[in-house]
Amino acid sequence: MPGIRGPSEYSEEPPRHPSLKVNAKEPFNAEPPRSALVSSYVTPVHLFYKRNHGPIPIVDDLHSYSVSVTGLIDNPRKLFMKDIRALPKYNVTATLQCAGNRRTAMSKVRNVRGVGWDVSAIGNAVWGGAKLAHVLELLGIAKLTASTHLGGRHVEFVSVDRCKEENGGPYKASIPLSQATNPDADVLLAYEMNGETLNRDHGFPLRVVVPGVIGARSVKWLDSINVIAEECQGFFMQKDYKMFPPSVNWDNINWSSRRPQMDFPVQSAICSLEDVQMVKPGKVSIEGYAVSGGGRGIERVDISVDGGKSWVEASRRQTPGKHYISEHNSSDKWAWVLFEATIDVSQSTEVIAKAVDSAANVQPENVESVWNLRGVLNTSWHRVLLRLGHSSL
Ligand code: MTE
Repeated sequence: MPGIRGPSEYSEEPPRHPSLKVNAKEPFNAEPPRSALVSSYVTPVHLFYKRNHGPIPIVDDLHSYSVSVTGLIDNPRKLFMKDIRALPKYNVTATLQCAGNRRTAMSKVRNVRGVGWDVSAIGNAVWGGAKLAHVLELLGIAKLTASTHLGGRHVEFVSVDRCKEENGGPYKASIPLSQATNPDADVLLAYEMNGETLNRDHGFPLRVVVPGVIGARSVKWLDSINVIAEECQGFFMQKDYKMFPPSVNWDNINWSSRRPQMDFPVQSAICSLEDVQMVKPGKVSIEGYAVSGGGRGIERVDISVDGGKSWVEASRRQTPGKHYISEHNSSDKWAWVLFEATIDVSQSTEVIAKAVDSAANVQPENVESVWNLRGVLNTSWHRVLLRLGHSSL
């Protein structure tokens, strides 16, 4: 491929912030300290988690870089960056969350397979780019199309990077054509992140952002888009990122019995405190994030210090100083809310956070009830232990 260097042709890694916790070196996987997530509503690029299944490619000739759009459409065509930049640009604030977020806590119940993540495989960014619905319109596919006349019902994104799970083939994923052609679904081909040119770690020069859906479908380093009849048959759609019940193990697993995970469920985590935190008696501030998939807003975040017998409601915000109201037109529907509550601590205690979304979906109480062998979608109540002692908090 012109302008694209494969892993054997380069050795340099992109520069990265020293505060990132590296969960795996090759492929590179890292997350920021949890406290960084509540320092700002928009997560700075250098503190945004990095999740990779293969070596990070370098695309260094933007003039020759193109995305081919092919498959069950009448007029397949190559799109260059100038074609994509010529379309109206949208800035969409959306939270990207890896399905493996909070996996480490799940693995404490029973062993799971996968890179360990604390609570920071998540970040909120302003993604700038063209809407996929408009890109597909250029190809003659009208808005709100569920099926092309040639039978295309899914849109597959194929990347430049190569993964061992795909036997050396490219990372890929798909979404339904009805979602891809819906301008209100805000699916982007993004070339900017927080107003800056997308960097190499996050998919330079072009990535897909599918708001409200697990991060695995937001394919980085886009190489081609295929309109296909069935959903993508790639490893990460068919043999990974599916939710299995706790009874399924590696001997009895039947991958085809479950659908690929798309929307992420309601989630929250406390970020101002570590899992076990020393505090002085008195007032302690509890801060964290809450988010739900599918564009569902956060209706409430509840905090308990008595094991869930009683709860106080946390305040919520997206804009500094302004109370957040779920589903209000001033809210960023694809973005997290940051929450805050102050509690009085006079003895060692467990603090619990649980969020409720606008469809009244609630986080499950125990991680055991959602345990699964791949350790995905741990959305159980988030618990931290406060121990009285000497602390600066
Ligand atoms: N796209 C490609 N090409 N290769 C990948 O390994 N990882 C996916 C997704 N897109 C991946 C990819 C996963 S699992 C997640 S959670 C997000 O990218 C992470 O995006 P980020 O590294 O920009 O945070």
